Formats: sequence, structure tokens, C-alpha cells
Amino acid sequence: MTDKSKKKNSSGRGSSDASGRLLHTKVKSARGRKYSSTLWLERQLNDPYVVEARARGLRSRAAFKLMQLDDKYKLLKSGDSVVDLGAAPGGWTQVAIDRVGALKGKGQVLALDILEMEPIAGAKVIQLDFTEDDADNKVKAMLGGPVNAVISDMAAPTTGHKQTDHIRIVYMCELALDFAVDVLAPDGVFIAKVLKGGTENDLLDLLKRSFSVVRHAKPEASRADSREAYVIATGFRGNKE
Ligand SMILES: C[S@@+](CC[C@H](N)C(=O)[O-])C[C@H]1O[C@@H](n2cnc3c(N)ncnc32)[C@H](O)[C@@H]1O
Repeated sequence: MTDKSKKKNSSGRGSSDASGRLLHTKVKSARGRKYSSTLWLERQLNDPYVVEARARGLRSRAAFKLMQLDDKYKLLKSGDSVVDLGAAPGGWTQVAIDRVGALKGKGQVLALDILEMEPIAGAKVIQLDFTEDDADNKVKAMLGGPVNAVISDMAAPTTGHKQTDHIRIVYMCELALDFAVDVLAPDGVFIAKVLKGGTENDLLDLLKRSFSVVRHAKPEASRADSREAYVIATGFRGNKE
């Protein structure tokens, strides 16, 4: 992150004119483009977080979600080791690098994704399916031992069927939790994306067995019309195995 970007806060409010009036870009429909694509494009162009992410050189608007969660709950500390699960294109990784001080030689960040990912200064990158046997050992070997935080912004691909999507994302979160339990050091932190919809209460119960404090949070950058939220678990009780 640049020095300029550090002076800014995590509100991401950037797309206004000199008088502070919010700008709105209207997209004309084009031959061959579906109406839904035109609406998506219009939303992107008018989303202050998209505009601000681009201005700050962040790889995703999602970066603001982690910034806001970390600003509020103070989850990532200078010198921490962090695993970013499902890290591509790398917005969360950029925030983690900044917060742990990885570019100042203080902490370390591992960006893990099943897809190939562009290298990112301050992080180690690995292309890996985190559900693979031995993924936990590979990660610990790369970071020299257990880590302080596992952060996950992963979502299973959506089907459009509300209940199916919900079950799939909760399952993804449970898999991420299993992984976290294997790699976290005592007092570690786990952050993962969920969809609000009912069974996440079972997930919270599961988390409470391994962590002393478990919360649900929806950062301001998470779109109000989406059911997305995050679970934040702190005070890992340690791997009992
Ligand atoms: C929403 S994106 C993450 C965006 C990221 N937080 C950012 O700010 O740039 C979710 C990522 O999870 C990855 N993913 C999904 N399943 C995975 C798996 N089993 N192992 C590793 N990565 C996975 C996808 O490839 C995708 O890149």
C-alpha cells in the first residue's frame, strides 16, 4: 500500500465531486450486452468502494471489508503470521501485509488460492486447494510453524437456490474452520465469510468450542442487499490433539 493510501481511512467514500456531491455514472445499454450486465456495470462504476479501491491500487473492493473489520475489532497485529485462504486477486492480502508490517520485515502473510495468483510484494503465494490432505502441513512449513490468524473470504460458487447456496457456504466455512484449528497457534484469530440464513447458528456453536469469543459482523463495505456477513472468532483455545 502506498503512503498516500495509509493516510486515508477505510470508509472508501471517494466518488464525489469537489462540492462533495456524489457522482452517478449512467451506462447506456449496448447492442449485445444484457440488461443485467448493464446494471452490473453501472453499479460498479458508481460504487464508491470500487472507485476508491482502484485509486488506492487495491486488488479488490473486498479489501475495505477486512480493513473495517480490523479497524473495529483489532484482529491483526504487527508481527503476526497470517494465512489468507482463497486470497485471489489479493485485496485482503494487501490489507494483511499492511496491518502486520510484512513490508517492514515484521510479520508474514501467506496468500493461498486454488487459482493462480499474481505475485504480491510482502506475501508468499501458494496455489493450493486448502481442502487437500496435508494442506495444513504445507502451510505451516512455509510459515515456520503455527500462525496467528486464518482469514477467509471464500464463497462456494452460487447456484441461485437460496438454501443450497447457504448450505454450501456454511460447509465451506466449516472446512476453513477445520483447517484453522490445524494451523492456528493458541490465542489465534479466525475470520470467515457466511451467508445469513439460519444454520449459521450451528456454526457459531461449533466455533465457540474452539474460541473464547465468537461474533457475527457485517462491515459497511458489505453490500446492504447481500446476505453476506463474517464470523470473527478470537482467543483460539489451542489444538487439543
Ligand atoms: C471472493 S474471492 C476472494 C477475494 C479476496 N478476499 C480479495 O480481497 O481479493 C474467493 C476466492 O476463493 C478461492 N477458493 C475457492 N475455493 C477454494 C479452495 N478450495 N482452495 C483455495 N481457494 C479457494 C477462489 O478461487 C477465489 O479466488
